[in-house]
Amino acid sequence: MKHFTSISDVNDLDALLNKAIAFKKNAFQPKIASGKKVGLIFLNPSLRTRLSSQIAAQNLGAEAIVLDIGKDGWALEFEDGIAMNGDKAEHIREAAGVMGRYFDVLGIRTFPELKDRDADYTEKLLNAFLDHSGIPIVSLESATRHPLQSLADLMTIKENWPETRKPKVVLTWAPHIKALPQAVANSFTEWMIAADMDLTITNPIGYDLASEFRKDVPVVHDQKAALEGADFVYVKNWSSYDHYGQVLSQDETWSIGNQHLEVTNDAKVMHCLPVRRGLVIQDEALDGPNAIHLDQAENRVYAAQAVFNELLK
Ligand code: CP
Repeated sequence: MKHFTSISDVNDLDALLNKAIAFKKNAFQPKIASGKKVGLIFLNPSLRTRLSSQIAAQNLGAEAIVLDIGKDGWALEFEDGIAMNGDKAEHIREAAGVMGRYFDVLGIRTFPELKDRDADYTEKLLNAFLDHSGIPIVSLESATRHPLQSLADLMTIKENWPETRKPKVVLTWAPHIKALPQAVANSFTEWMIAADMDLTITNPIGYDLASEFRKDVPVVHDQKAALEGADFVYVKNWSSYDHYGQVLSQDETWSIGNQHLEVTNDAKVMHCLPVRRGLVIQDEALDGPNAIHLDQAENRVYAAQAVFNELLK
């Protein structure tokens, strides 16, 4: 594995998953990354990704250095071939090049602007770091994907599923007051397909994910029908892909509560966090026995540790 920006970068998914599970049993295996440096660059806010990545690096013996580049760094220019006579003080070519000299692995968080779909979906910012740093790049959530979250999600499903049959996994849209990226939903779908899970997506009309991500996964616009017999319900809001970045619905009947779970197979409830209580998921479901969102968050450490281990060894 040279980089970790999507499932396509993973050579052996089972091996990576097993490594993450092994790190959860024993986080302090021989410190293979002693003396190595991991840069964690945030253009956007984070709680879990930031902390879990730092802990993961430390568990391996590496030093993690965080830069909130949007706040503490120079404003970056990503356009080539222009005179930099505006408010951008540093070009990505130099910024990424310098970070490539300081670090052994570089993690980047770059959210989409949700204005220009083509610009977001070409992953211009992430690709600039890939092109100009010269070192392995880890996506800490990009415009279209959140692979560290997806690896932790897959790990969480595996450890909560002792049966031999494939679990029915339902990814359900839920309401939100803000326009959120499609990255978590896109990425979760990609990883569930790669892991050969029985996945169904349910969302209101107008919220279908990009066809390059949902491929031939069934999309059901009737949430109750989709939830029937589910073993895992993954709840997430995303803004419209077709009407790019728009909030088309705030239908509160899609907010997951215990009533929604009645038609499931006693489904576990998942969310990547942060979650708005009483809006995306009701308190009763988040505080109930089926909620495994904190397991997902815990597993973010071991997912990141498995990825850093692979890139630093
Ligand atoms: N799930 C997740 O990535 O959380 P943060 O945005 O807090 O990092």
